[in-house]
Amino acid sequence: MLIVKEFALVLFLSTKLCNSQEWKFPDDFKFGVATSAFQIEGGWDADGKGVSIWDVLGHNRSVLVKDGSNGDVACDSYNKWEEDVMMVKNLGVDCYRISLSWTRILPEGYGTKINPAGVDYYNKIINKLLENGIEPVITLYHWDLPQFFSPLGGWTNPVVVEHFAYYARTVFTLFGDRIKTWITINEPRLICQSYKGLIGDVTPNFPLGVAEYLCAHNVLKAHAEAYHIYDREFRFKQNGKISITLDITWSEPANASNPEDVRAAEQNVLFEFGIYANPIMGFDYPRVVIDRVANRSKLENLSGSRLPKFTFAEKLRIKGTYDFLGINHYITMYTRAAADPPVTRPNLDVDAGGERFRDPSWEGCGAAWIKVVPWGLRRLLNWIKNTYHNPDIIITESGYADDSEVFEDDGRINYYRVYLNATLQAILEDGVNVKGYMAWSLMDNYEWIYGYTLRFGLYHVNFTDPNRTRTPKKSVEYFKNVTKTRTIN
Ligand code: BGC
Repeated sequence: MLIVKEFALVLFLSTKLCNSQEWKFPDDFKFGVATSAFQIEGGWDADGKGVSIWDVLGHNRSVLVKDGSNGDVACDSYNKWEEDVMMVKNLGVDCYRISLSWTRILPEGYGTKINPAGVDYYNKIINKLLENGIEPVITLYHWDLPQFFSPLGGWTNPVVVEHFAYYARTVFTLFGDRIKTWITINEPRLICQSYKGLIGDVTPNFPLGVAEYLCAHNVLKAHAEAYHIYDREFRFKQNGKISITLDITWSEPANASNPEDVRAAEQNVLFEFGIYANPIMGFDYPRVVIDRVANRSKLENLSGSRLPKFTFAEKLRIKGTYDFLGINHYITMYTRAAADPPVTRPNLDVDAGGERFRDPSWEGCGAAWIKVVPWGLRRLLNWIKNTYHNPDIIITESGYADDSEVFEDDGRINYYRVYLNATLQAILEDGVNVKGYMAWSLMDNYEWIYGYTLRFGLYHVNFTDPNRTRTPKKSVEYFKNVTKTRTIN
């Protein structure tokens, strides 16, 4: 079945190529690869770095990690950064998305003390990338919160907002003369999910259905502060762009001609994505989110809604804080309407309602949650275009995992072929303003609670070798060819 599908795609692509010289990525479209600090750097306490929540989780609660591992060494990019830059160069991409470790730069997380070795480390990478004609795309925060904030409730405590703003100003000052694309925060939904006790943060037993909304509220405010600091103090001299990266699961109505399924599917997208996108690209949380959480809170006999309210001034401050929209996409699901569950165990998923499921015939990969459903990407790109007035979009992550050491990674090649094709269809046929696509990931790395058991890399990393040897997988050649020809083959 798969072979037939692949054959059909190759036929479709070659027909496109014969019919038109234009089945190519536009000149201003950027190809890239992505990683994040905690997942690759290692050097967890090297040269004055402070401790993050993920260091602590890896040391004290590694039972939560599938292989009991931690990120102390990871890919050892703290030492092997030069080789990483050369691997990026070999791929022929336009940009490399990395994140900064907050505690490598400000070791205490809350103090003003800067760690010169951390600054030096990022300066070396940024300069080397630029020397090699690669644009560094920098994410300020990719989940490695300074441990200082954890006993205070992490992102559920508004105190993080001002400290994040301080950190943002610090990095714009240190590196902004060379950075043209900034991302404040990676995937708030996943950050805030950790306060349901699912992943990440070390503070268990937060009140369900409350903490994740408090977190969302503070993440949005922190993002807006960073945006305004850049906009007001740095943009005029540095000329960069700044935004946030939201992850988006596409919810397809189980039966598109049933209005109830259509409503349930959209409601899911609004609860997961709109809760962040609407305050930034519209004004305030989506109406359906405000109403449903308020109604269910009432049924739970609470004195107010579990969803915090923004003041009018806060709504204005968050509105418009994007120069483009960063999205990470991995998942498509079907959603059908369902009776609302009882109000006994509140949480965001239950508030969102509906029933979600996957088509068992969809091709899978090493990560159980990822299925190869490229039309989901095309659909969501169109939905964003229609819902938020066709913003510029950068796909800041998209990728495929193996759960073993695969070097002839045809599954990954097929994944990029079909997802890049869906991206191109959205651009050329649907008029969506997609401006870039970054593969997750440059190399195999520390996959959070999955430890080293899932491999997303274009390059293989040998985690049992003290040298953390990197080896190109077959997909490197494929990706190189795409970036060289700017077409899909
Ligand atoms: C995260 C990455 C992660 C990837 C694959 C994204 O949600 O930003 O850090 O490795 O998904 O699971």
